[in-house]
Amino acid sequence: MPQTKEKEKSYTVVGRGRARVDGPLKVTGRAMYASDHNFPGMLYAVPIGATIGSGKLESVDTSVAEQMPGVRAVYQRANIGKLFKVSLNEDFSGPGLAMVDENRPPFHDDVIRYYGQYIAVVVANSFEQAKAAAAKVKATYKTEKPNVRAELLSGKKGYDSSAEEMKVESERGNAEKAFGSAEKKVDVTYYLPPETHVPIELHATVAVWDGDTYTLYESTQSIVNHRSVMAQMLGVPIEKVRVISQFLGSGFGGKLWPWPHDALACAAARHLNRPVKLVLSRPQTFESAGHRPACEQRLRIGASNDGKFNSIIHDYANHTSILDDYEENCGEATPFLYGTPNLRVTSQLVRRNVGTPTSMRGPGAVPGLFALECAVDELAIALEMDPIELRIKNEPKLDESKTIPFSSRHLIECYKTGAKKFGWSKRTPDVGSMKRDGMTIGWGMAGATWMAARLAAAATVEMRDDGSARVACATQDIGTGTYTVLAAVTAEKLGITPHRVQVDLGDTKLPPGPLSGGSMATASVIPAVSEAADKAIEILKNDAVSLEGSQFYKKEPDEIEFREGKLFLKSGGEGMPFADILKKASRRTVVGQGRSESTFGAKEKTVSMHSYGAQFAEVTWEPEIARLRVSRGLTVIDAGRIINPLAGRNQVEGAFVMGIGMALLEEVQYDQRWGSPINNNLADYIVATNADHADHEVIFLDYPDYALNPMGARGIGEIGLAGVAAAICNAVYHATGKRFRRLPIKIEDLIA
Ligand code: MOS
Repeated sequence: MPQTKEKEKSYTVVGRGRARVDGPLKVTGRAMYASDHNFPGMLYAVPIGATIGSGKLESVDTSVAEQMPGVRAVYQRANIGKLFKVSLNEDFSGPGLAMVDENRPPFHDDVIRYYGQYIAVVVANSFEQAKAAAAKVKATYKTEKPNVRAELLSGKKGYDSSAEEMKVESERGNAEKAFGSAEKKVDVTYYLPPETHVPIELHATVAVWDGDTYTLYESTQSIVNHRSVMAQMLGVPIEKVRVISQFLGSGFGGKLWPWPHDALACAAARHLNRPVKLVLSRPQTFESAGHRPACEQRLRIGASNDGKFNSIIHDYANHTSILDDYEENCGEATPFLYGTPNLRVTSQLVRRNVGTPTSMRGPGAVPGLFALECAVDELAIALEMDPIELRIKNEPKLDESKTIPFSSRHLIECYKTGAKKFGWSKRTPDVGSMKRDGMTIGWGMAGATWMAARLAAAATVEMRDDGSARVACATQDIGTGTYTVLAAVTAEKLGITPHRVQVDLGDTKLPPGPLSGGSMATASVIPAVSEAADKAIEILKNDAVSLEGSQFYKKEPDEIEFREGKLFLKSGGEGMPFADILKKASRRTVVGQGRSESTFGAKEKTVSMHSYGAQFAEVTWEPEIARLRVSRGLTVIDAGRIINPLAGRNQVEGAFVMGIGMALLEEVQYDQRWGSPINNNLADYIVATNADHADHEVIFLDYPDYALNPMGARGIGEIGLAGVAAAICNAVYHATGKRFRRLPIKIEDLIA
């Protein structure tokens, strides 16, 4: 992974807080989201889901629906035509990747494996007509009892990482033996219920078929992957699919990969030769567009009396659907977060009659750290040790799981900075010992970590004769600020202000860019944009040396340098703005192209790259009125260079709100009779709102990590969620003496 290290220099754009360049478009309503696109003759599709959770579809009677006003067609297995399975290209290298979590094409067989699995789709002139007709489609089933049981392994006799069905994820030493001989230990099991992403923008697709080519306006976190998947599913060449996603009303992982409704809209558009719009209902997003699966995790940590870990055993299971193997990688952080000579991490999938789970913000590490960071707190209490002191004591010197150094890790500084800012030294450890304004106060904290990696990216940068620039990349802005990041990075490289940079993204016609997921987009695009800008500058230098009458005439390009938007002779003298050079050379633009490779392809990793953080929470508890509030939060993040601290802070604050939801509110409940997610709407599936939000402070440490890209940025977003639920649970214990190992923490359990 050869990277030219950007000279340590003071950036003028990067690292400064900057309002979104796309802000005006959003606040004036001009930003076009997928379902905002309308076309002459457009039809509306409404898919129909099975009303059983397990069984066989025996018949679908569409005769009444077909006669209803405005109905153009009702498709089901018999008449939808061929929809193909997708094969994954695992190299994550951009256009090749064709990732999908629910692999079965819609209507593929008559077996019903989850409630809401699509059995038909109505297409009509208006949405209302389609919806009315959908209600008149009658299906009959051979019904079986679905298995949507919440408990995964704990129902069985314990679970043990040595059991055969557990897959070993990471192992060193002899964890079982060391745990057996530990002086102090915890052996605790945690349960996280399924959660659903509930982005405000519903999943939407507008499929336009012109007889040869698809143009898809799609709510997706990866236009490039969406194109690959849809081309395969529809059986058309990849060049015949164009995907556009200019703005996204959040995704949180739920829009990373295509879902079955996408293929239905495309198939209908092709059959009817008309544009088709399909927007899922909120309940449908709970059924057939992914969710974070239920996770059950057993943590065993053994330590000596002075707090040094001798063993960690982390065994976990997550539910998945009947056909797909979605792995929630709960043990991701466990092998490297702490030092211990003996460790074993094992996993298992448990099948349920649910729609296929998918990534949800911080997949794997977030549930995993909830368990690990609560278990460490429980161990600290058993040891009568301060939880920060215990963590510092077990800070590893290198990544012990791979025996390679960390590229850049400042976790201890996160703990110490956070402790100081939060006032941790005033904490009295006894349960219920802290009071304020007649309320009991609890303080808890947790460590946080998230992967740092790069996906393949390509970009072009143009310098133009009016002093403006353009950057183009087929990535997308999912609400996280990618337009602004691309503007800032390009402006920094070209020595101009960001508002002179036109940013084009969200269209697969552009050079293939990364998906917006895993907090990787920023780190991925920086090297490609940097290289593209450098190449444009090289071309400009070559133009300059043939400019008669200029100071550059007949010089060698390497006698010229570019800074502050101008070319200079290294030997000194006045600079010339790039716009002037282009004008004199009768050029509208110079265009540079840049690429960077994925770190996933790297065969041997020489450094261990992750971001780190420490999160603190204060809860107030009023037992008299059974009120628990998160009153204060503080997060310290070590995520390399922060390109835009304003957007970065916004990410971490948002994540903290989501963490309050995870700890106190969110849980998808399945009806045990039918397998339906019953709280499938925003009235019953409760997420944290502004009123639930605490005062929350965000601090960024500033240690650029040049192992990942020339600006040293690792990416931010998901890490902000990683420690929140654990910090809150630990605070609740401190306030109340109740240890919650099953989320969400419910008032009825608190007062029980
Ligand atoms: Mo994130 S779960 O990678 O959108």
